[in-house]
Amino acid sequence: IYPGQLAASIQVAHRIAKVISDNNLEGRNTVLGLATGATPMAVYSELVRLYQQDGLSFKQVITFNLDEYYPMLPDAAQSYVAYMNQHLFDHVDIDHNNIHIPDGTLNEDDIPAYCLAYEKKVSEYGGLDIQLLGIGRTGHIGFNEPGSAPNSGTRLVTLADLTRSDASPDFGGKENVPVKAITMGIGTVFKAKEIILMAWGQKKASIIKKAVEEGISANVPATYLQLSDKVQFIIDTDAASKLT
Ligand code: F6R
Repeated sequence: IYPGQLAASIQVAHRIAKVISDNNLEGRNTVLGLATGATPMAVYSELVRLYQQDGLSFKQVITFNLDEYYPMLPDAAQSYVAYMNQHLFDHVDIDHNNIHIPDGTLNEDDIPAYCLAYEKKVSEYGGLDIQLLGIGRTGHIGFNEPGSAPNSGTRLVTLADLTRSDASPDFGGKENVPVKAITMGIGTVFKAKEIILMAWGQKKASIIKKAVEEGISANVPATYLQLSDKVQFIIDTDAASKLT
């Protein structure tokens, strides 16, 4: 628990940077699972600063984003492609061939095969070294909404009503928020060697309490993380304020 999100985000960025630079020294790739949204923004800005000022290279970094709205054009302002370019990829030396973000432009019929291939690609790169997570007020991680199975894989899902309400400011109204998304599964996330869930602010206090203190249940998918010994919750005092 950190006094503020900035100090916490800097710690997370430095952990990621350490894994990247250790792997760089040994000539190994680093495979990162990345999240979007408000939560990881300061992590990405610190990673950009480390690239610009401390020479941290992303040339051997492979990324897989957790999710994308469906349908979604990559050049739409609300796409997670646009978000990642704006916050990280446009500012570091990553090879754009190493970036993977679920494709929001596919025909629905093609999505199951695409999702299997996405999973396979993660495994072919040796699995995720670090998975970054935020948490939604429904308890979702990625877009694994209530009802998601602990062994779920990458797939097309329907967004919860609360998730669409929370996203509505970005879309100029809830009616414009896509009803679906493609997300990595809980099972996909669990395969990561290290999982870091972050949450900031009073708005997340209730769901953090449920995720940490309630029994494991599909009603709050983040409770599945209690089953893993590779997880850290990095939160600020406001998000921690309801913990007993
Ligand atoms: C985003 C994602 C979501 C968000 C969550 C929290 O890629 O997978 O699970 O992490 O909805 O969103 P923010 O950070 O905007 O509160």
